[in-house]
Amino acid sequence: MSSIKRQLLFGLLGLVLAAVFLGAAAVYRQARAELDELFDYQLRQMALSLRDQAFGAPAATAPGPAAEDFDFAIQVWGADGVRIYLSRPQAALPAGARLGYETVETDVGAWRVFSLRQRELVFQVAQPMSMREKFAAAAALRTIAPVLLLLPALGLLIWLTVGRGLRPLEAIAAAVQARTPATLAPLADRRLPQEVRPLVEALNDLLRRLGAALESQRQFVADAAHELRTPLTALRLQAQLLERAAGDAERKVALDAVKEGITRAMHVVEQLLTLARQEPEAGARPFAEVELVGLARLVIAELMPFAEAKAMDLGMVGAEPLRVTGDREGLRVLIANLVDNAVRYTPERGRVDVSTFMAQGEAVIEVTDSGPGIPADERERVFDRFYRRVGGGAGGSGLGLAIVKKVVERHRGRIALADGPGERGLTARVTLPLAGTAPPT
Ligand SMILES: Nc1ncnc2c1ncn2[C@@H]1O[C@H](COP(=O)(O)OP(=O)(O)O)[C@@H](O)[C@H]1O
Ligand SMILES: [Mg+2]
Repeated sequence: MSSIKRQLLFGLLGLVLAAVFLGAAAVYRQARAELDELFDYQLRQMALSLRDQAFGAPAATAPGPAAEDFDFAIQVWGADGVRIYLSRPQAALPAGARLGYETVETDVGAWRVFSLRQRELVFQVAQPMSMREKFAAAAALRTIAPVLLLLPALGLLIWLTVGRGLRPLEAIAAAVQARTPATLAPLADRRLPQEVRPLVEALNDLLRRLGAALESQRQFVADAAHELRTPLTALRLQAQLLERAAGDAERKVALDAVKEGITRAMHVVEQLLTLARQEPEAGARPFAEVELVGLARLVIAELMPFAEAKAMDLGMVGAEPLRVTGDREGLRVLIANLVDNAVRYTPERGRVDVSTFMAQGEAVIEVTDSGPGIPADERERVFDRFYRRVGGGAGGSGLGLAIVKKVVERHRGRIALADGPGERGLTARVTLPLAGTAPPT
């Protein structure tokens, strides 16, 4: 499992080590340059002092420093190219070198040689290059040693500091763990580090939405139970009547009432299921391109017997082909509920028109009727679940417009109720984004 703590520890230690080694390399280079200058100067000084010594006396008699730990080597050559003096016979110095400075490769590594001519004699002072490397390396080591020694302590400090920094995450995990569907209180977001705040805010947002969804579910179940109780109570009464019925005619009337009651209860249940399916949490069907005119014609055909029974004029006026991106079944339910309401609440011999058209780059479906309409101050509330207008007549569940609203919201559309085309009546107008223009859901 990946760990921020471990990642930071190794990352930071790696960076420190890299910086230290870079620094050491820089020190080494610098020290080498300075040592080169210094040692070269020393070689020259030594050669000059030898020459001055040898000036009056033969070079061979010059006292040569012979101590083993003396790392210089001195050679003196005579006029005939014969070596007169060698300070360290074991040091295999090259036989000859150019005058001035030169670096010479030998069997025992590179040597730096300074050669000087004084009349017939050539004085050479030499020193192994490894001396310079040794000193420079020592200088570099001196700079990294303290850091290397401190490295374990540094690692421990990083470990502890990062642990401290990550503590709010542990606190949040514990707080989230403590939440249950019954206690969805938001997490405390005071004194939080800046980096963790977005996480907590997102979690709180989720908790809030979860709480709202749970509350609306609770409300929904309570409403549904209450709403189902009414037809079921009526059914029980009708069943009792059926039981007590005397004679075939009375029994038939009672039985019809029972059947009617069952139909109503089934309608409520079906509408409840439809509404539940429109909830965004219900794992909605994927959206596809839907053609609205065909869909409207289909709905009209389905409801035609209902309209004909009331001698109503139901049909499409204006049918502009419209394509929207959406859930075909949801859109069918939407149109069906609007047309069903129009047919249901409009008196006999009334008129219901459905039209589709484009307005301001959006798709519009309009259902108008010649019925009683809905007063302006109730046009919001009719969208509430189970809300039915008083004196609206029997048969409904009060869920139709709630379902319509849910479908419209899922499709990022709008719905508006307005006066009908004539003196009376209702116009229900649904506006949806055209296919291709809808933002992804
Ligand atoms: N076209 C309409 N004309 C008049 N009243 C309407 C119309 N559509 C809806 N209503 C009123 O709005 C209420 C809510 O409608 P709805 O949500 O479809 O429930 P339901 O039709 O099951 O009663 C209805 O009870 C009715 O009073
Ligand atoms: Mg209805």
